[in-house]
Amino acid sequence: MAKVTGTALVTGGNRGLGLEVCRQLGRLGMKVLLAARDIAAGAEATSALHAEGLEVTFEPLDVTSQESIANLADRLERQGTRLSALVNNAGIALDGFNADVVERTLAVNFFGVMHLTRRLLPLMAEHGRIVMVSSGMGELRGLSPTARRRFDPPPSQEELVAHVRAFLEDVRSDQYTEKGWPGSAYRVSKVGLNTLTRLLAEELKARHLLVNAVCPGWVRTRMGGAGASRGVEEGADTLVWAATLPPDGPTGGFFRDRRAIPW
Ligand SMILES: NC(=O)c1ccc[n+]([C@@H]2O[C@H](COP(=O)([O-])OP(=O)(O)OC[C@H]3O[C@@H](n4cnc5c(N)ncnc54)[C@H](OP(=O)(O)O)[C@@H]3O)[C@@H](O)[C@H]2O)c1
Repeated sequence: MAKVTGTALVTGGNRGLGLEVCRQLGRLGMKVLLAARDIAAGAEATSALHAEGLEVTFEPLDVTSQESIANLADRLERQGTRLSALVNNAGIALDGFNADVVERTLAVNFFGVMHLTRRLLPLMAEHGRIVMVSSGMGELRGLSPTARRRFDPPPSQEELVAHVRAFLEDVRSDQYTEKGWPGSAYRVSKVGLNTLTRLLAEELKARHLLVNAVCPGWVRTRMGGAGASRGVEEGADTLVWAATLPPDGPTGGFFRDRRAIPW
């Protein structure tokens, strides 16, 4: 196994895919910042990885809190940390469909990623990699032609945010079907995330940052359930691959099993 250097920050690192990504990046030789919103769970996961001989530091982070994001970024800045990889893994998939579910889902899966990534951009090392943990649910083919036109080709970030907010408002006023939206908060959150990936990849080419979205497949975690087809080791593989790409690696792509798939 070739050794990889540098520091990686992984959100939602206390369990599931995030924990396994921390483990695999640590085994490759990276310093890992395991970020989690639950202090006890984050500390426990970090201790477990220490016991495996890995270099891991716990960082408290709730991606829905601007204060929490600012505290983390300030802390890392004071320490002079440069990030070789940022893995935006934290995500939720709630049961049911109503405005509350949409608001909470977008807050983590879309706005949380956007705010954290934007705030950490000054700390990214040249040739750093940003990995968006997405899903097959984020594929454009899952949208009606009307909804699809809002995301493809990618609009500006302002327009993207306006579309995502409009989805919430259309669910609130019960007009989402007429407006062509699907009845899934998770789907729209991941389509929004993929669109953000495409925008950031283009914007950050000048800084030689590699920004890609990855679908881990259906994985046995609390979210994926016990009946899922993959274990975390297999699910984390392409995430770790995207977090350790060489400087001439791809950017602005969507990958599953290390292969590009259509947006
Ligand atoms: N499992 C699958 O089949 C599958 C398929 C496609 C995509 N994905 C994606 O893979 C990623 C990881 O999912 P998983 O399967 O590992 O799910 P999981 O076991 O439910 O883990 C989700 C992680 O996200 C964290 N999280 C949730 N809200 C957060 C917040 N506001 N701030 C910080 N962390 C937060 C959770 O922390 P707590 O422990 O504090 O709740 C937990 O660490 C997600 O983005 C998901 O959409 C999963």
